[in-house]
Amino acid sequence: MPSRQDGAASLHPSAASCLAIGPDDLVPAVELRGIAKRFGPVEVLTDIDLVLHGGRVHSLAGENGAGKSTLVKIFAGIYRPDSGAILLDGQPITMHSAADARRHGIAVIHQHPAMFPDLSVAENIFVGRQPRQGARIDWPRMHATAEEFSSDSGCRLMCACR
Ligand SMILES: Nc1ncnc2c1ncn2[C@@H]1O[C@H](COP(=O)(O)OP(=O)(O)OP(=O)(O)O)[C@@H](O)[C@H]1O
Ligand SMILES: [Mg+2]
Repeated sequence: MPSRQDGAASLHPSAASCLAIGPDDLVPAVELRGIAKRFGPVEVLTDIDLVLHGGRVHSLAGENGAGKSTLVKIFAGIYRPDSGAILLDGQPITMHSAADARRHGIAVIHQHPAMFPDLSVAENIFVGRQPRQGARIDWPRMHATAEEFSSDSGCRLMCACR
């Protein structure tokens, strides 16, 4: 499968495809160019290009082990590519962590989200990005916002409970 296509990615070793539906922008919101990643002897991604436009829904498909999660983790700041570039709004960026990606406005909902059973519902929702007042966590705001999310989603959650 060709790798140099708008909205298409070629994942090694098996075929994968990326389908995009929606309007085009002139400058893509996110571009991955020539991305490569290996884990020891396993070459997972080879020369991957992926172009994502704002306001579009993209679907990345491939068989188990094709490298989809690895690619998503690269633009979520979790893994660093061995080579290649990531561009946001046409500007190259370097990310060292998931927090860096969040600062760039990139958020990922993982296939298997990690939950922390010892934390409350509200703490799980806000893990890593708790509302603060100065240096301290703003617990009333955190609980109130979690309650809002809960009622907006139609699920009645006890946000202060574990
Ligand atoms: N941290 C890691 N260390 C070593 N190998 C890894 C690591 N993460 C992934 N791999 C290997 O990289 C390849 C791609 O894995 P990846 O999870 O990205 O595939 P995937 O397309 O998301 O698969 P699935 O459809 O099963 O979710 C697999 O061979 C996997 O075993
Ligand atoms: Mg996966």
